[in-house]
Amino acid sequence: MARQDLKGKVAIVTGASSGVGWQAAVRLGEAGVKLCLTARRAEALEKLRHELESKGVECISVPGDVTVQADVEQVVRECLTHYGRVDLLVNDAGVQSYGFFDELPWEHLTRTFDINVFGFMRFARAVLPHFKAQGSGHILNVQSMLSKGSAPLLAAYSASKHATLGWAKSLEMELVGTGIQVSNVLVPSVATNMFAHAPTMFGLAPKPVPPTYDPDVAARAVVRCATWPGRTVVPVFLGGRLMLWVNALLPRVGKALMGRFGARMQMKDEPVQRPEGNLFHPMAQGVGPYGPVPPTPLWKRLSATAGLAALLGGVVLGVAGLARAAR
Ligand SMILES: NC(=O)c1ccc[n+]([C@@H]2O[C@H](COP(=O)([O-])OP(=O)(O)OC[C@H]3O[C@@H](n4cnc5c(N)ncnc54)[C@H](OP(=O)(O)O)[C@@H]3O)[C@@H](O)[C@H]2O)c1
Repeated sequence: MARQDLKGKVAIVTGASSGVGWQAAVRLGEAGVKLCLTARRAEALEKLRHELESKGVECISVPGDVTVQADVEQVVRECLTHYGRVDLLVNDAGVQSYGFFDELPWEHLTRTFDINVFGFMRFARAVLPHFKAQGSGHILNVQSMLSKGSAPLLAAYSASKHATLGWAKSLEMELVGTGIQVSNVLVPSVATNMFAHAPTMFGLAPKPVPPTYDPDVAARAVVRCATWPGRTVVPVFLGGRLMLWVNALLPRVGKALMGRFGARMQMKDEPVQRPEGNLFHPMAQGVGPYGPVPPTPLWKRLSATAGLAALLGGVVLGVAGLARAAR
């Protein structure tokens, strides 16, 4: 797809009250995009709207819940009333729910799907008639490395992210030749507020699987995809492309490591009582792009990459040596 000039384009950004959605809105605004921000927390959206307007970005905020059809329609309607069009939908709103699969309340599983999967689909169905009428448009989905991989304690989340990637890939095919594009950004662990308001069944504060990147990495990938639509991108190497390669080439390594250490890697020693978190209702905590866990510094990411590369190189040389000896 040809390069898109973002200046003057109109975007709806869901999940804009914190994390990747917030930062993506900031970056899109800086690129000249006019914005319609949505999430449940009206005050947080207003805070972002003021921040953006002070930088000269045209912006409206329309609070709503992605699980409520009427709210979704209202957001699209207000966007069209204000700007007269919509060019880009950034599907970002999402929740994580920590717990062993058989111990997660059933309502947590269905609610996770209602937000992460049906929320994306509701918004896509609400904008598609307008995209079809104007013969152009772009649905850009904020996915996860767990759209392809998996992790213990996150069965509901991981299943929901696999579902949205499968849905997006089918939709992309259905829309060939219509002028409407579908893109996906597979986000690694990023230092957002997700870990400040995610529900957990463990009484301990959750934390991302390291390395943890700056949410701006995801936001800049959103802008790149908006500029060059129709792609599925993995914006980082260590917690991204390398992980996919290792999973494809040495699937037992990932399973052994995450099976043995994955649960512990995702919990701090900090007690917290948050069995429902922001799953059913928004929480006051966690406004803005950054959350309680800082991004992993670059030097640590680089030394981990070098260590892993040396380990993989050693495994490959060992296997090659064994094969030669057996001949
Ligand atoms: N953080 C990570 O490590 C990571 C990794 C991979 C992928 N991602 C993906 O990145 C996206 C954003 O996550 P994040 O890390 O930025 O988390 P976050 O800071 O918790 O942001 C999630 C956003 O979704 C909104 N939201 C949640 N439930 C909603 C509902 N029912 N209706 C409307 N909005 C709702 C929240 O706002 P309100 O509470 O105000 O509604 C918030 O704005 C998600 O799709 C997530 O799967 C994150």
